[in-house]
Amino acid sequence: MMKKLIAGNWKMNGSLAANDALVRALLGGLGTAACDVAVAVPAPYLAQVQALATGTPLQLAAQDVSQHESGAYTGEWSAAMLREFGVRYTLVGHSERRQYHGESDAVVAAKAQRALAAGITPIVCVGETLAQREAGDTESVVRRQLAAVIHVNGHCISEVVVAYEPVWAIGTGRTATPEQAQQVHDVLRAQLAAASPHAAKIRLLYGGSMNAGNAAQLLEQPDIDGGLVGGASLKAADFLQIIAAAQ
Ligand code: 13P
Repeated sequence: MMKKLIAGNWKMNGSLAANDALVRALLGGLGTAACDVAVAVPAPYLAQVQALATGTPLQLAAQDVSQHESGAYTGEWSAAMLREFGVRYTLVGHSERRQYHGESDAVVAAKAQRALAAGITPIVCVGETLAQREAGDTESVVRRQLAAVIHVNGHCISEVVVAYEPVWAIGTGRTATPEQAQQVHDVLRAQLAAASPHAAKIRLLYGGSMNAGNAAQLLEQPDIDGGLVGGASLKAADFLQIIAAAQ
């Protein structure tokens, strides 16, 4: 069976003191986790968390990466820079980036390509809004978002992780049911299978109000290979329970 991945997305939360306490508590409870565990931390704290996590099972992730290689792009950071801090994964196309920063499917695809070129695994986020779901467009929206990434990344597509995060489930406490999530994951898996002979090994994460109470049921679905966890990743006890549910 595929090794699951539980990734925490801290979003724009944390401080030196809070991060230190959170990471130490996680490391204290992780043991030898049977799944991969990562935290996507705000860029200013990458060095801090790298120092705490090096040599431990806790892997480092970024929340975003530039679509450009280097140069006059104020406020951005490159995949090569992330690499220098031991970053293993980076989110690309999180719905908050798409919504508040106008990231298009093409930009998200280019970011995934930059990450892959630097040896960083992009966690490509896709997901529909509530209006899109209610209009019956869920499948076409996630397929369009993923198609852009497949188109640009070609045979490298088996190296990505995909996260299905329905926008209406993010930070709302309203989780997709395991059946709703599985249904979309099945669509994504089929789309990947049409593009790559290795689709069965591509990890598909679910994200959106995943918590200690609902993680096990979601993670036992056949095409849910892990979780992308926002709010609950900021509390060590909750995040550790989600990790335990993935083993
Ligand atoms: P919540 O778990 O807080 O709903 O956030 C999900 C998310 O956006 C993870 O990237």
